[in-house]
Amino acid sequence: MTFSLHDLAVPILGAPMAGGPSTPALAAAVSNAGGLGFLPAGYLSAEKFADTIAEARSLTTAAIGVNLFVPQPSAATAEGLQRYRELLAPLAEHYGAEVARPRPDDDGWEAKLDVLADTAPEVASFTFGCPSAEVLGRLRDRGVLTVVTVTNPDEAAVAVAAGADALAVQGPEAGGHRGTFDPVALPGDEPLDTLLAAVVAAHDLPVIAAGGLSTAADVRRVLDRGAVAAQAGTAFLLSDEAGTNTPYRAALTDGHFTETVVTRAFSGRYARGLANGFTARYDEVAPLGYPEVNQMTGPMRRAAVAAGDPNGTNLWAGTSWRHISGGRAGDIVAALARGVG
Ligand SMILES: Cc1cc2nc3c(=O)[nH]c(=O)nc-3n(C[C@H](O)[C@H](O)[C@H](O)COP(=O)(O)O)c2cc1C
Repeated sequence: MTFSLHDLAVPILGAPMAGGPSTPALAAAVSNAGGLGFLPAGYLSAEKFADTIAEARSLTTAAIGVNLFVPQPSAATAEGLQRYRELLAPLAEHYGAEVARPRPDDDGWEAKLDVLADTAPEVASFTFGCPSAEVLGRLRDRGVLTVVTVTNPDEAAVAVAAGADALAVQGPEAGGHRGTFDPVALPGDEPLDTLLAAVVAAHDLPVIAAGGLSTAADVRRVLDRGAVAAQAGTAFLLSDEAGTNTPYRAALTDGHFTETVVTRAFSGRYARGLANGFTARYDEVAPLGYPEVNQMTGPMRRAAVAAGDPNGTNLWAGTSWRHISGGRAGDIVAALARGVG
């Protein structure tokens, strides 16, 4: 029987956070606390992704969700990438790293869909676009509940027409990449509450709310506005089970980092993170072009992390990052759910 989001003991989803923060232990801890933990497939090989599902399964008998990046045509131009390569070169040299050569990459889309069909997780969510009706139907036939991330009412209508079982409405407050279907469009700045109200009013299917939710009052607010559950990412970044790297963890509690910005500087796609030395230097000059820009900056970002330097890497965080704290993920789930009843 297909899983229902209404069956969750606690209406809290631990957002998929690709690139390190999400771990099987984090996903399992959220699910074991009565919420729903997510395993992101982004940036992993299909084999590694399958391994993370198996590992999470060994840590929980509760439902788990997985998350895939939907491939999109890149907005990159050869000239734009070449110019950015030249601008990145001095900082790459500072970290003793190369500006990597971009290569074609659809994040292993077909192979990861095969992993989903084989392993049939209870929930599969998607970002950066809407899978075809055929893909969604194939998963539904395997008993997988499909969720499409949307950032405006038009995307919600596309996802509903394609047959999504549920929507994750991502507001501009969210940490990490915006899930906008069109990688060139400037993401909207209508607040989550407004977007949520519009999508809930227009569609009769479960709607998950995401973006800037890090307190019980935030969760209460979106449930009152018709969300079936609240999806929180940033709230778990400092949890014991998260794989958040050391300089990133330190930056989240360092008073020198005073604001978040939406930037394409790291990956060529808009994403929200703490403003740092990298965004100050490159935010205005970076081209759009995912995944090429993401690939180009990868080695220098890794070198900066290895050097313990938070100013050379992405520090994805939502607008409510100041309210977060560490501890066990299960306790964070309980704190977010306090007052839900
Ligand atoms: C570090 C980080 C990585 C993320 N990676 C993904 C991802 O792989 N897939 C996805 O759908 N969303 C990803 N997101 C976005 C979340 O799904 C969610 O929309 C966001 O965390 C909600 O906002 P909040 O961080 O303010 O709670 C990521 C967010 C963060 C902070």
